Order: sequence, then structure tokens, then C-alpha cells
Amino acid sequence: MSIAIVSGASRGLGLELVAQLLARRWRVIAGCRKTQVLRLTELAGARPGRLHVMPLDVASERSIAAFAGEASIVTDHVDLLINNAGVLHSGERYGQLVAKTLVESFTVNAAGALLLTQACTGLLRQAQAARVVNVSTVMASMARTETFRTPSYAMSKAALNMATRLLAAELGPQGICVASVHPGWVQTDMGGTAAPLSVEAAATALLDRAVTLGLDDSGRFIASDEGALLPW
Ligand SMILES: NC(=O)c1ccc[n+]([C@@H]2O[C@H](COP(=O)([O-])OP(=O)(O)OC[C@H]3O[C@@H](n4cnc5c(N)ncnc54)[C@H](OP(=O)(O)O)[C@@H]3O)[C@@H](O)[C@H]2O)c1
Repeated sequence: MSIAIVSGASRGLGLELVAQLLARRWRVIAGCRKTQVLRLTELAGARPGRLHVMPLDVASERSIAAFAGEASIVTDHVDLLINNAGVLHSGERYGQLVAKTLVESFTVNAAGALLLTQACTGLLRQAQAARVVNVSTVMASMARTETFRTPSYAMSKAALNMATRLLAAELGPQGICVASVHPGWVQTDMGGTAAPLSVEAAATALLDRAVTLGLDDSGRFIASDEGALLPW
């Protein structure tokens, strides 16, 4: 049975990815800052032995190490790692920017994904054709940026895209595919109610894309719906 890790699984896209992976008959390790999430408890009860909910704060090296250690107790390999945990500080305005917001965004959105991937590399190596999906955003596209919006988010996700390139170079020769995937604009706490995509549709598209990724896609920045390549 294939096994996936999803970070930031307490709500939004991450929670729906967990539910849909389980429906697709995967085993799932769900990493959350708060593990007492009613829907995860229900999902675990409905699929005995197939969902492991573990504490994970991707901003903490200690938490990442503990999570990877706990994961290696329940599985000897990981086929899919979805670096989904992310933060967006809305309301940033030029002239009022503060370092705290920038630093926290880089810590979670870029460093967190890179360090979690590093910690899980031993498990990824043990899979036949492992994939790492870094959940990015078109707002990270430097080529497409023409307005001054959400700089902490945009800059940290651009750094995540660089992590994708670096990881693809390092892990590609070991048979592990690493890609940045833009899920679209999604109705979550982050995306808001005006977003065109339901969380269910976004998770379906992201998983459909994730399972087709091969080494040819490694190091790419891809839209999950039609698989179009996005400009860096
Ligand atoms: N929604 C969109 O339109 C959209 C578009 C493009 C890309 N994305 C990306 O998609 C991913 C999921 O976004 P979403 O819309 O589902 O956002 P969301 O509803 O705000 O959920 C964010 C998730 O990340 C978790 N998280 C935040 N900081 C964390 C940390 N330090 N350690 C572990 N988990 C942490 C949150 O956990 P807590 O519950 O503990 O806060 C929550 O589970 C993000 O990477 C986001 O950038 C979203």
C-alpha cells in the first residue's frame, strides 16, 4: 500500500488531501501543530490503521526531527511527501512592513518544507519512485509579479521554488521527483470565500497531478489543473 505524508493537515487543503488519499486507499501520516482535529479523529476511526496523526510544527527543527523519527516507526518508506503547511500574512502594506512577518513566512513556507524533506529523505529513498510536492503558488512567480502584494508570502514561496530546484538536483539522481505545484485559488481560510475552486476540487486536481509526476517533471513549477508549466 502506498504511503503519503501531508504537512499542515489540520484544516484547508491539507485536511482534504488526507481525506482523499485515504479514499484512494493510501496510508497517510498527517502532520499537524494541533493533533486534536475532529475530522482527523473521525477519518482515523473509519479507516483503522491507515491514518497516523502526528504532531508537526515545520517552524521547529526539534518537531521536524521528532516527526520524522515517529514516522519511521510506523513505515519503512514514503511514496509521497506533500509539503502543504503554509502561512499567508494578509494586510501587509509597503511602508509598514516588519521583519517578524517576513521571517516567519520564510521559516514556515520555505525552510520548513526543505528541512522536512531533508528529515524524510531516508524514507523517500526506500520507495520505488518517490515524489515530493511542494505546494507553491503563482504568487511566487517573479515573471508574473506586477503589483506589490503579500510580499512575505510571495518572497517565501519564491524561496520554496528555489528549494524545489535544489532538492530536484540533489534527490533526482536518487530517483526522487521534486516539484512545485500551484493548486489554484482555493476556498480555504487562506484563500477566502471568493476563491473559484472548492477545496475538494483543488485536492482532487493536486492528487491527480501528484501521482502522474515523473523524474522528467522534477525541478518544475506546475499548475495542478492542466499541468501547465508556470514561469519562475
Ligand atoms: N488557498 C489558496 O488559494 C492557495 C493558493 C495557492 C497555494 N496555497 C497553498 O496551499 C497550502 C495550503 O493552504 P490552505 O489554503 O489550506 O491554507 P489554510 O487553510 O490557512 O491552512 C494552512 C495549514 O498550514 C498549517 N500550518 C501553518 N503553519 C504551520 C507550521 N508552522 N507547522 C505545521 N503546520 C502549519 C495550518 O495549521 P494550523 O491549523 O495549526 O494553523 C493549516 O493546517 C499552503 O502552502 C498555501 O500557501 C493555497
